[in-house]
Parts: sequence; structure tokens; C-alpha cells
Amino acid sequence: MTYAAITGWGKCLPPAILSNDDLATFLDTNDEWITSRTGMKERRISHVDVSELAYVAAANALAAAGKRAEDVELIVFGSTTFDEMCPNAASNVQRLLGACNAACMDVNTACTSGMYSLTVATAMIKSGVVNSALVIGAEVVSRIMEWSNRNVSILFGDGAAALYLETSEIRQGVLAESLGCYGESRDILSVQGWGLKYADKKRILGETSWAFSGQEIFKKAVKGMTQACERALAKLGLQTEAIDLIVPHQANLRIIDSLTKNMKLPKEKVFINIERYGNMSAATTLVALVEAVQEGYVTANCNILVPAFGGGLTWSAHLIKWGARTHAIAQSEVSLPETTQTGLELVQALR
Ligand code: COA
Repeated sequence: MTYAAITGWGKCLPPAILSNDDLATFLDTNDEWITSRTGMKERRISHVDVSELAYVAAANALAAAGKRAEDVELIVFGSTTFDEMCPNAASNVQRLLGACNAACMDVNTACTSGMYSLTVATAMIKSGVVNSALVIGAEVVSRIMEWSNRNVSILFGDGAAALYLETSEIRQGVLAESLGCYGESRDILSVQGWGLKYADKKRILGETSWAFSGQEIFKKAVKGMTQACERALAKLGLQTEAIDLIVPHQANLRIIDSLTKNMKLPKEKVFINIERYGNMSAATTLVALVEAVQEGYVTANCNILVPAFGGGLTWSAHLIKWGARTHAIAQSEVSLPETTQTGLELVQALR
């Protein structure tokens, strides 16, 4: 049996920081409210397009795996904020990397896009279509944010992460997952103005208003992720005790707490970075997974549970068995162009 081992990992966080206090300069909100209701303290705002964030994250993942761009046979790019719809964003990453042997596709399932992309790449490796893949979750939510709406604009940030996958005879990588969608609830999280549906309405593309029922999303998120975790565990006949680390989607610390309580998961096994980045949509779980490796929480051969949810309302949970190696083979020299702009300055230009 062939498995899809995760042998490389990388992230790219744009340098400009937007703090809760920055948000309070133009919204009726404050640090205490945001911290206590969400767990977030700051988030990043990108000065470049999503493909550039993705490119740097992908180059880092390739270096960590000790591979060359020519080794990549597939690029799956998960996002909701692609720079262009045609040509796709994965082809731009291919061009920037020089990954001339890679097939390229984009996947959009909102915040779960990185995890759905991981499923696509894993399945294509296991079935023998390709031998290697780069999986990307990247997002520049700031460009489609309704900045005057405090219900949503405090919650999101920009970022990117990537994984390199390759064939292995050793049982590792994604061993089971559960994916689903509450399509009947798709209207409770909707970015109005983002998509061709709005093109004839004399609206500037990207000038959005968000339909966003926070409490409904909250309940559906807990329900969806709980169900997904139970189903993924059941596929392998595992109990929660077998899980060494939980790396959940970071949309709200209280959502993570409810899920952990529902699943009777020990809090000390849950990886949290929400205070630094907020919700980076498609990038969130992959950035968290990459940081969990880089910060030593992922140990050789450990079992990782990754629950996620997003607009649609899509939900997922992946059971990942890590391999023997937890250190990067090399470091990439690729980096973002520098900027002197602050997060607040970048947001002021978008408002
Ligand atoms: N600053 C200060 N006050 C705010 C505020 C803000 N940014 N946003 C809302 N409020 C106010 C509300 O107006 C309300 O005031 P009222 O009681 O006078 O009406 C009060 O705070 C409580 O608002 P409520 O919406 O009930 O708060 P909540 O505890 O449900 O938290 C969310 C709101 C959005 C943080 C929470 O529902 C959530 O995280 N939902 C999930 C959303 C999500 O993550 N979506 C992404 C999907 S991937």
C-alpha cells in the first residue's frame, strides 16, 4: 500500500501587524472585548497578492523536504481570495517556483480549503496519479473585508502555509478524514460582492458586505467539527486517547474550547496560535500545523487530529500520522519583498 508522507512544511506570514488597539482606532470596539470573545490579540495584513505569500510558503516547504521545484508533480492551492480566476493561482506558484513538472489546481471551500486540498493531494498520491505534491493554504482576506463591520473585521487576518507530500511505503500522512458541508446554511456566512454574481450590479469587485450570523456559525462549527472528528476516529477504530496533538481551525478560542469539551480532549494537547494571527481562513490550520512542527509539539510518529470548518458551511477532520523526521532538511532563501507600511496603514488604504 502507498501512503502520502508529509516530508516538508513551510509558512509565510506577512510582516505588517494589525492589533486590537489598531482596530479600535476606526471601529467601536476594544481590546478587552475582542480578547475575551475570541482569544485574538493581533493579525497580519498582507502587502502582496496571495500567490506571493503562497510562493514563499511553498519554497519553505520544498526546502524543508530537501526537494527541488522540478520534483513537484502536483500543486493544489486552497484559498477563497485568489488574485485571478483565470488563469488559476496554482499555475502562478508553479511559474514562480519553476515547478515545470507540476499539474496545477485551485480549491475553494473557504476556511477548510487547505485541508480539502490536503485530501485531494493525498488521494492522488495514494491512487498513483502523482508521486509528489505541494499543498497550499493561503489567504489575503483583508482585500475582501468589509472593514466598517466590527462583527467580522476583527476576526480575520492574512497568511499562508504549505506542505510537501511524497509517496511512502510506511504508514503515515493522512490516514483518515471526514469531510462534509451544511449547504442549507450557506447564507449565514456569505461575502456579498465577491464573485461574478455581483458583476452586473454596478459594484466594484471586492467591495463587499458580509452576511455573517456569528452565533449560528459558532453552533454549526462546533457541531460539524465534533461530527467530523468522531467519524474520522471511527474510520480507524481509534479513541480520543490515541491522539497526541489536536491542531484545530483557529476561528474563535471559545469554539475550540467547546469542541475540546464535547470530545473530552485534554486542553494541554490542543495547539493554539489564534492570539497572534486571528482566523486566516484557508491558511489557518496549515499555519498552525507548521508552527506545531517548528515549535516542537509534533513528535516522531505522533497522531494528530485536525478539525476545521468554513463558509459553505464546510467542515472536516483529518487524522494525520507524522513521520520519523520533525526537523527541516534545509532553509529556503526566498522571502517576501520588504515593506515599511504598518497593518493599520495597509487597512486604511483598503477602507
Ligand atoms: N466589539 C465590541 N462589541 C461587539 C463587537 C466588537 N467587535 N462585535 C459585536 N459586538 C457586540 C454586539 O453588538 C452585541 O451587543 P448587544 O448585546 O448590545 O447586542 C454584543 O457585542 C454581543 O455580540 P454577539 O454577536 O452576541 O457576540 P458573541 O459572543 O456571539 O461573539 C463572534 C461574536 C462573532 C465573536 C462569535 O459569534 C463567533 O466567533 N462566531 C463564529 C464566527 C466565525 O468564526 N466565523 C468564521 C468561520 S470560518
